[in-house]
Amino acid sequence: MDITYYGHACFSVRVAGKTLLFDPFITPNPLAESVDVTAIKPDYILLSHGHADHVADVEKIALQSGARLIGNFEVIQWFSAQGLTNAHSMNSGGSFLFDFGRVTYTPAIHSSSMPDGSYGGQPGGFLVETDEGAFYYSGDTALTHDMKLVAVAGRLRFAALCLGDNFTMGVEDAVTAAEWLGCKEILGVHYDTFPPIVIDHEAAKEAFLKKGKKLHLLAPGDVCQL
Ligand code: NI
Ligand code: MN
Repeated sequence: MDITYYGHACFSVRVAGKTLLFDPFITPNPLAESVDVTAIKPDYILLSHGHADHVADVEKIALQSGARLIGNFEVIQWFSAQGLTNAHSMNSGGSFLFDFGRVTYTPAIHSSSMPDGSYGGQPGGFLVETDEGAFYYSGDTALTHDMKLVAVAGRLRFAALCLGDNFTMGVEDAVTAAEWLGCKEILGVHYDTFPPIVIDHEAAKEAFLKKGKKLHLLAPGDVCQL
């Protein structure tokens, strides 16, 4: 699977002939200045929750690409009310078979409000299972035993885990999450964007390496295959 990182918790995965974009927050992110947002044309945009640092560029990218939104009921209702009606709503524990594979909206321990302060439903993450393999994106969350249920679903090619601490789990808990998930290849997200979530890259990579895991910390715009 080809992965492109766009900074913060935004990345895309090319799988089963489709491009899935997660949590677009690019234009307000000074670290992602080099990314050309107008060139991002996904087939689907998956939203873990309603916070602005996960949805800031949804409208722009959805309009330029015609992408279908996937998210929890309240997040989708909010965007639908703004005219983005090409959308599919889910809720915690539910799964649905799309043309690229099966998506499960997994539980996350966090909060969720929309940019205007309205209720954003239950925050979550995504387990994506395709003919080319499965991957998991934690969304913003604390470390939770619920992640062990993701491991039950089978082997993951990679997991995108938040690890910036303060608002979500930090590196140490993300290492534990990787162990519970039984996953070797980890894409780090939700770090460095704001002062309280700046991390020591080398120390973080070392912490994963000690447990036999590979932590990928990409620069915005970078591509890798996992
Ligand atoms: Ni959040
Ligand atoms: Mn966040």
